[in-house]
Amino acid sequence: MLKAMPYIEFVIVIIFFAFGIYGLMRIKKTEKNLIWVGLAKETAHQFGTPLSSLIGWKDVLEMKFEGKKKNAEVLDILENMSSDIARLNKIASRFGKVGSIIERKPSNLHEIIQETIEYFRLRLPSQSQMIDLQYISRIEGLKIKIDPDLIKWTLENLIKNCIDALKNKEGFIKIEAFPNKNNIHIQITDNGKGIPKSMFKRIFEPGITTKERGWGLGLSLAKRIIEEYHKGIIRVQDSQMNIRTVIEIILPEE
Ligand SMILES: Nc1ncnc2c1ncn2[C@@H]1O[C@H](COP(=O)(O)OP(=O)(O)OP(=O)(O)O)[C@@H](O)[C@H]1O
Ligand SMILES: [Mg+2]
Repeated sequence: MLKAMPYIEFVIVIIFFAFGIYGLMRIKKTEKNLIWVGLAKETAHQFGTPLSSLIGWKDVLEMKFEGKKKNAEVLDILENMSSDIARLNKIASRFGKVGSIIERKPSNLHEIIQETIEYFRLRLPSQSQMIDLQYISRIEGLKIKIDPDLIKWTLENLIKNCIDALKNKEGFIKIEAFPNKNNIHIQITDNGKGIPKSMFKRIFEPGITTKERGWGLGLSLAKRIIEEYHKGIIRVQDSQMNIRTVIEIILPEE
């Protein structure tokens, strides 16, 4: 028994260390989560005041022009203001969702992807660059348990990154969605500048950016939405410098 003591002690020390490291990792993860949730909630909250006053100002304008022969320009401005306010409301509600309990409901993912692409298609001509935006879907009619708004937010971030990667270059963005085993795959490919292999994992960390005006938040948010809220995977499937980049989302079909 005495002979075995050093071994037993050694095992106890190892177990102690393992628990210690596990505990530290848990604390770090909880801390990270708290920062995310806090920041997101504060952002949603901060949006509230200017948004209500914007709605108020819009109402004042509408009242001022009530009864008078509104000219087309004012009507146009008011309409634009309304759609901008609606968009801001949506952004605030998305931030509010980060850190809340997400209710995933069976949704038509095909339509959600299509709507997101159409949103960009309308805005692309103003980007003064020729981008061919393609969508190839094999998931029409499938219902998948997701939070539609958060998935849209993720797709918007990914497509925005493709547009940035194509800066000053004619190119394409191709979105493909297909079922595979019990999962749905969404692959977003562009023929932009590419990502070096050493950065494949790091670009999903907050604060990692190569852009002058970037925050390095888009992909970390996307990772959180896909992996924490939807139990899926998001990764760089492939990238070759100045040839192509494929970002892949894998969602469990359930
Ligand atoms: N499709 C892509 N092609 C080339 N590089 C990419 C692509 N997508 C992401 N990256 C690289 O990953 C980095 C991190 O992307 P992420 O979306 O997290 O942040 P960002 O776009 O720099 O800033 P933000 O999204 O916060 O405005 C980018 O700065 C870019 O270098
Ligand atoms: Mg981005």
